[in-house]
Amino acid sequence: MNVERREKLYEGKAKIVYETNRPDLIIQYFKDDATAFNALKKGTILGKGVINNRMSAALFEVLERAGVPTHYLGTLSDREMLCRRLEIIKIEAVARNIVAGSLAKRTGLEEGTIIKQPIVELYYKSDPLGDPMLNDDHVRMLRLATPAELIRIRRMTLRINAILRPHLARRGLLLVDFKLEFGRRGRKLYLGDEISPDTCRLWDSRSKERLDKDRFRRDMGGVEEAYQEVYRRLVPAGA
Ligand code: TMP
Repeated sequence: MNVERREKLYEGKAKIVYETNRPDLIIQYFKDDATAFNALKKGTILGKGVINNRMSAALFEVLERAGVPTHYLGTLSDREMLCRRLEIIKIEAVARNIVAGSLAKRTGLEEGTIIKQPIVELYYKSDPLGDPMLNDDHVRMLRLATPAELIRIRRMTLRINAILRPHLARRGLLLVDFKLEFGRRGRKLYLGDEISPDTCRLWDSRSKERLDKDRFRRDMGGVEEAYQEVYRRLVPAGA
């Protein structure tokens, strides 16, 4: 495929999205920039862009093989991913298998508590508002997605969890929780964005050591090493 990078469409906290010479395709460029707490905390995680690009590609391929439609079409370089252009749905869907982060704060449950039946939460993708939590009625009121789309978003999120959890477990990683974004093209929904240690909580199965962005959020040190360890376990050599 002969695709050329064109104008910058949008720059986010961790990625830049470019138009291409094809109206139906975009390129995601993965940066090393890291932010937390709605960009109150800023930093750099050296090599993160390469790891998040390669790891997202590997996991999108796993999902595609299992029949989940994603925006992923291939990688063009260490930091560039070729994707279908989607109409973004401004909802962040979070799936949780183990209590951590904001769920521990909201419920008083201890981090590490197993959740018997995985749960899905919805957040409004809005930087000015700080991504507040939404329920189905808010989604309808704000017209972020139709009720039918919301059913599919929840179903796809749980299905993705059911695929990724054993895949990661085989590589010694507990999938604690993760955030997904979806987009539409016509009537079809696709998984968008990325799946990386920025957007997942991943703990070592045995030691429960945190191997994700919580090391940056909580000033735990060993951030780059954690990303590299996840990469080593998930991305086959030479990919
Ligand atoms: P939370 O416990 O802070 O709500 O985070 C839940 C999951 O969502 C966790 O895996 C990290 C991910 N996440 C993002 O990808 N982006 C965000 O802006 C936030 C707050 C969380």
